[in-house]
Amino acid sequence: MKNILVTGGAGFIGSHALVELVEAGMNPIVYDNLSNSTDKSLKAVESICGVYPKFYQADILDEEALDRVFAENDIDAVIHFAGLKSVGESVAQPVRYYENNVAGTVCLLKAMERAGVRKIVFSSSATVYGSPKSCPISEDFPLSTTNPYGASKLMIESILKDLYHSDHRWGITLLRYFNPIGAHKSGKIGEVPSGIPNNLMPYITNVAVGQLEKLHVFGNDYPTPDGTGVRDYIHVSDLARGHVLALQRLEKYPEELNIYNLGTGTGYSVLDLVNTFMEVTGIDIPYVIDPRRPGDIAECYANPEKAKKELGFEAQFGIKEMCEDAWRWQEGHPHGYED
Ligand code: NAD
Ligand code: UFG
Repeated sequence: MKNILVTGGAGFIGSHALVELVEAGMNPIVYDNLSNSTDKSLKAVESICGVYPKFYQADILDEEALDRVFAENDIDAVIHFAGLKSVGESVAQPVRYYENNVAGTVCLLKAMERAGVRKIVFSSSATVYGSPKSCPISEDFPLSTTNPYGASKLMIESILKDLYHSDHRWGITLLRYFNPIGAHKSGKIGEVPSGIPNNLMPYITNVAVGQLEKLHVFGNDYPTPDGTGVRDYIHVSDLARGHVLALQRLEKYPEELNIYNLGTGTGYSVLDLVNTFMEVTGIDIPYVIDPRRPGDIAECYANPEKAKKELGFEAQFGIKEMCEDAWRWQEGHPHGYED
């Protein structure tokens, strides 16, 4: 595996994957319409690993642009990050989500078929487990969703499974991410939420930097040790490395369909994360307890054994490093890549 097309490569997880790909000796080619990112992230990637990846600013719904990229580059495999990812927005704009995520993936797969490139690693999400019957969650747990974003991930998983069953020349890896947080150790790339963050860690860092007054903890009456929601937070650089391992396995076993959880296997509560953040940064995070957020589940953490056994994947960074690194990025870039 050498030339890897990275859709959504300018985004949060994609930019971290670029660094890992370059460091593994691969040549990432970025395809992104910059609808939720900026190409400044690519400049920052260059400052970390010395390579400014070849970049196409284009949409995955644009089949001609996709054909051009496959014609101009000898692509070995695709990592498909491109997609819209806000749960709340997907409820308000379902058609936009299905078009961008599902129809966009169909366009990508058609272009791959035309080009004879049949290796793909897809960004799925633990959201496809819906409200899991128990934790830790294994890959064979029942699947369900409660919102259009999750449904789009589940539909894409189904399309990819059907595709594999129709033609075993395909090599397909579905990676189900748990909760990626943190930022590259350099502090040069990280997450840039648009507007007020929906997710916990960017909300905490925005409070820490003084842009938001206090954190709203959504519920402290869950059946968890301290009553607040428990999640499997994983350092984004660990998650990114999981994609390199997935490609390496696809190279070894080019005609497989595989599904892996990418998580640490450990759950932390909202208050665990807040307290760890305060401890490692020395910054106070004022918070209030609010009612539960509709659609949230009590706990969600991975059984990471399959990825460990088959990919050799194991998270290296703990919760303290996730907090330290998230803060290093936020402190240096209070307005994202504009700083
Ligand atoms: P992100 O928004 O930072 O990155 C997604 C990138 O895709 C952006 O750069 C955006 O401009 C691009 N994009 C979106 N639609 C496109 C289109 N039609 N054509 C071309 N480019 C397009 O998000 P992220 O956090 O890096 O997530 C990457 C992937 O991982 C997404 O598919 C997301 O659903 C999935 N995922 C993310 C999380 C998370 O918590 N961040 C969890 C599970 C799964
Ligand atoms: N939370 C708060 N206050 C906030 C934000 C979050 O208390 O301001 C709590 C939530 O209630 C939850 C925990 O912090 O208990 C984590 O919430 P996030 O929004 O950070 O993450 P979620 O687990 O809800 O959702 C994430 C992604 C989704 C994805 C899901 C499953 O944002 O896109 O993981 O993979 F679908």
